[in-house]
Amino acid sequence: MSSQPSKKFQEQLIQMLTHRGFVWGPEPEIYGGLAGFFTYAPLGKRLKNNIENKIREVFIANDYWEVECPIIMPREVWKASGHLEGFTDPLVECSKCKGVFRIDKLIEEKYPDVIVSAFKEKEFLEFVNDAKVKCPTCGSKFLPEIRRHNLMMKTTIGTNIEAYNRPETATTTYLPFKRYYEFFRKKFPFGVFQIGKAFRNEISPRQHIIRCREFTQAEAQLFLTKKLKQDWKQFEKVKKEKLPLWTWYMQDNKSHPQMTMLDDAMSGNLLKNKAYAWTLYVAYKIFTELGIPHEKIRFRQHAPDEKAFYSDDTWDLEVELQSFGWTEMCGISDRTDYDIGNHSKASGTDMTVPDEDNNKIFPQIIEIAFGTDRPTFAILDIFYKPESGVGERNVLKLPKHLAPVQVAIFPLMARDNLDTKAKEVCEILQKDFFAYYDESGSIGKRYARMDEVGTPFCVTIDYDTLEKNDVTIRERDTGKQARVKISELAEKLRKEL
Ligand code: GLY
Repeated sequence: MSSQPSKKFQEQLIQMLTHRGFVWGPEPEIYGGLAGFFTYAPLGKRLKNNIENKIREVFIANDYWEVECPIIMPREVWKASGHLEGFTDPLVECSKCKGVFRIDKLIEEKYPDVIVSAFKEKEFLEFVNDAKVKCPTCGSKFLPEIRRHNLMMKTTIGTNIEAYNRPETATTTYLPFKRYYEFFRKKFPFGVFQIGKAFRNEISPRQHIIRCREFTQAEAQLFLTKKLKQDWKQFEKVKKEKLPLWTWYMQDNKSHPQMTMLDDAMSGNLLKNKAYAWTLYVAYKIFTELGIPHEKIRFRQHAPDEKAFYSDDTWDLEVELQSFGWTEMCGISDRTDYDIGNHSKASGTDMTVPDEDNNKIFPQIIEIAFGTDRPTFAILDIFYKPESGVGERNVLKLPKHLAPVQVAIFPLMARDNLDTKAKEVCEILQKDFFAYYDESGSIGKRYARMDEVGTPFCVTIDYDTLEKNDVTIRERDTGKQARVKISELAEKLRKEL
């Protein structure tokens, strides 16, 4: 069952994230702040690192190799990729106060059932007219035109070379294609990925770190031939897996995604090729391995006129958030030979290579594209369980493997050698875990602080510890406590974490 997004929850969560040191901003706060720029504070940065490492782990386990390419590229690259012309948002301007707004977002927010992603200028204008959509600031009419706003952030290289901060890592990953081809011994398939910054000059970014102007992407690219797309051996391993697929022509209010076996999705022509089906499964695995519950994940296919300019087929992996409802996390696109073909033509570099039958081809590319900020928000949103009332606790029930602090160590009192002993225990644990020492405030307050930042275990050193060399270990989710010998503590934590 879907639940309604909660503004109250969203505010409480964002307040906690600021107060407890996960995310600060918008930055620069001391100058008043600019929407869409955030600082990952110490706990948020540790969480984001843990999430990125998990993503990295799954990509590597599926034979993708990591690379790091430049962030800034000259104009000609973005002209060839299609971003200079095609990477735009539709804007409207108020006839009175001159405020400028993204019309797709205004409609989506007011009419959540309307799918605007396929709208062209004409449909936007008709909708504004029919539904009498007005300026949210002053209530006046909009001017009857849709302006296109390019999302790329412009910069200059040297004194006069027009350039842009990349709006996606993907294009920068594609440019050394011929180098990869040599590196991978001229044999398809091969996969590469980047985790790095990208930039989008959104007009009015909202929704905290879900929509930023500067953000981190994790994008994996599979290079292959047309033949390999159909004859994809790894498909055999996943063909019995079921994914929650929601095809574009079923996306109305009454229908829901269907748990569909990949084999059936192929035979029913829901998915066009086996390599693509396998890639969907890799994306799904990343999100389930991060700990996102199955029932909160769905794949929504783009309608034919909704797809990005480079895509032959796209399915978005969406996650249901308490703050914002179903939210796009990741897009899996079949980019065909669009990219390498265009860069070959525009650069004048022959980027053709032979396929299995010795035909000259540009490689096909299947992409898993997502940012790491959204999964970070999703994890925080899904697992934050604030409770109200006397004796209730605000607990961040993070999957244990993602917790920024794995174990906290408290002396019952900061005296009588309890603090010295607690520091000794902390040093032992720091060899294997991210352990945090805290002696300030009552034990109850220290537990509450750690519960709210998702620390799975707290260890307390008391007077008995000095005699018996054992400690109390307390589990976050149940609050249960047990005595454990200091000599066995690391092993116990290793098992649990
Ligand atoms: N590379 C696809 C995207 O950035 O959405």
